Amino acid sequence: MTSRTCLSIILAAGEGTRMKSALPKVLHKIAGLPMVAHVARAAEAAGAGDLALVVGHGAEEVRKAAEKFAPRAELFVQEKRLGTADAVLAARAAIARGYDDILVMFGDTPLIDPTALAAARDRLANGAAVVVLGFRTDKPTGYGRLIEKGGRLVAIREEKDCSEEERRITFCNSGLMAIAGGQALKLLEAVGNANAKGEFYLTDIVGIASGQGLEVVATEASFESALGINNRAELAEAEAIWQQRRRREAMLAGVTLVAPETVFFSHDTEIGADTVVEPNVWFGPGVRIDPGASIHGFSHIEGATVASGSEVGPFARLRPGADLKKRAKVGNFCEVKKATVEEGAKVNHLTYIGDARVGAGANIGAGTITCNYDGYSKFFTDIGENAFIGSNSSLVAPVSIGNGGYVASGSVITEDVPEDALAFGRARQKNLPGKARELRARRAEAAKK
Ligand code: UD1
Ligand code: CA
Repeated sequence: MTSRTCLSIILAAGEGTRMKSALPKVLHKIAGLPMVAHVARAAEAAGAGDLALVVGHGAEEVRKAAEKFAPRAELFVQEKRLGTADAVLAARAAIARGYDDILVMFGDTPLIDPTALAAARDRLANGAAVVVLGFRTDKPTGYGRLIEKGGRLVAIREEKDCSEEERRITFCNSGLMAIAGGQALKLLEAVGNANAKGEFYLTDIVGIASGQGLEVVATEASFESALGINNRAELAEAEAIWQQRRRREAMLAGVTLVAPETVFFSHDTEIGADTVVEPNVWFGPGVRIDPGASIHGFSHIEGATVASGSEVGPFARLRPGADLKKRAKVGNFCEVKKATVEEGAKVNHLTYIGDARVGAGANIGAGTITCNYDGYSKFFTDIGENAFIGSNSSLVAPVSIGNGGYVASGSVITEDVPEDALAFGRARQKNLPGKARELRARRAEAAKK
């Protein structure tokens, strides 16, 4: 790693009209994390020093979100959207502190590759004044074209300002740029707005620097690195690429995905080796799956931890705070929320466990419900070790079932059940011999009349 100082500037002031959204564009999510946070992470992963975030449209919302994903970032407001060079200059105070390297990134280019950032900085270290990350594409429409002469980058021309011939160039500007800190302000201040859009283009510093005889270079990045998100179709495209990468990473790390294209991860999903994930599983944010768990098909899991040897699903829902210890089982049509299911406990069928603890080895019968909410507050249910809850029971919280407690099927439990006690919370059954035959005869007679 280089010892050079670095300022990373992320531009996120644009309106993003084509998203047709009340939410600022850069806060739209990929894998559950705002696009701009992906960019901030890539910068961090590349060791890209201090972070400046330029906001404008939806500034307050972006500021609030940034407190979470980049608490160290310094925020600058671009008052009017006068173009990308103007946006960078919104962070003038930070640039003026004097850094060796300035990295400029766009908040709507979420899949940028940290190694490409690091490579761009290496070129600065080797004497370049401006480094542009280019990419090649058959469909260059909308991108700035990289104009090279004699193997040197001499200008970037925006689509609207291109000649016919220039428009045919397929080497394009990703938007990512590295600028020598000592030159940055001088170059940016030299940018004018005499172009088709009347904007101050960041891309113009290439022509300016090149005209001054400074070294300007283009390096090549992947298409994904350059994928700019302008509408929801592109958002979905980026999501798909992200998911595909993550699935591959998981599989190469020892996770079996039976049908990888049907499994969806979050940006922070942790999943251990030898875990098997069946088709159609969704991981929301905050999930940790330890090695050797089984996640059966059609399970929806968020904010949960699942220990080794546990089984989830098929068709299970684990909500935030669900904590499955070793060899626990949560089966079909069960929902677990803010509850610990201790070692070897079984919650196998058609059950809701919320605000509860299920002790080690306990068995929860089909259709059991913890009644945790009275319309105002939530209450806790404690189920002891090796307890047995008969099917179709309601446990009305707050309530506890002692270790080894046994609840008869169909009970409504409103009082604590002591250790090893057998609890009936229902009316006793009464059999009336021969009464069914009598009843049928009476009904048949009545129907004749
Ligand atoms: C820009 C590049 C283009 C490149 C393309 C890659 C310029 C002039 N053009 O074009 O060469 O191929 O990205 O996707 O840089 N922004 C602000 N304030 C502004 C204007 C923009 O913060 O006043 C931000 C936007 O929020 C966005 C980024 O800068 O994150 C890029 O702006 P956008 O208008 O999308 O530029 P493009 O026309 O896509
Ligand atoms: Ca764009």
